[in-house]
Amino acid sequence: MNPRIHLLQEYFTQNELSVDNYIFSSLMDLGDLFEKLISNGIIKEGQSFVDLGSGDGRVVALANLLGFNASGIELNDQLYKHSIKLLSSLKEKKIIGNFSIQKADFTQVELEYDIVFNFLTLPDEIKVKKGSLLLLYSLFPYEFDSSGFEEIVQFGNLRVLKRIV
Ligand SMILES: C[S@@+](CC[C@H](N)C(=O)[O-])C[C@H]1O[C@@H](n2cnc3c(N)ncnc32)[C@H](O)[C@@H]1O
Repeated sequence: MNPRIHLLQEYFTQNELSVDNYIFSSLMDLGDLFEKLISNGIIKEGQSFVDLGSGDGRVVALANLLGFNASGIELNDQLYKHSIKLLSSLKEKKIIGNFSIQKADFTQVELEYDIVFNFLTLPDEIKVKKGSLLLLYSLFPYEFDSSGFEEIVQFGNLRVLKRIV
């Protein structure tokens, strides 16, 4: 695994905010899963990537580090501001490149991205463009109406679906 992923995990753990009992992704687990998807050619560097409900920005930072054009959408003001602070500092240190975080409700946004990631907060209806990949990360099985999607692969806690209509 890219050794920088370990550093990112430590950085976000040291700067963790406790907000509304939200839990955040393990970058060690996700880093491993994303690297598997890359080595299998399922996702490719340079593609656009969004984390729906980006929290403190850790998944945006991870995707950026792995070469994606990464962005996030976060509704919670405290987390939004915290993520901008943490990611700006990583960018200043040249650990990550350009990123964008939008303060918005992701259910109200047209999602024009190649890769759409979500950890635990996906609603029943989600507007992703045809052909894009939905990466659903969860530590336990959860219901998702996958009509309109084709199941591509599941690695560990990560399900990958492709929007086909
Ligand atoms: C379980 S946390 C995951 C955070 C981050 N994606 C990660 O994996 O570490 C879910 C996040 O989604 C945000 N969220 C939930 N519903 C949202 C919505 N409709 N629009 C934008 N953000 C939302 C919450 O504020 C929270 O930060």
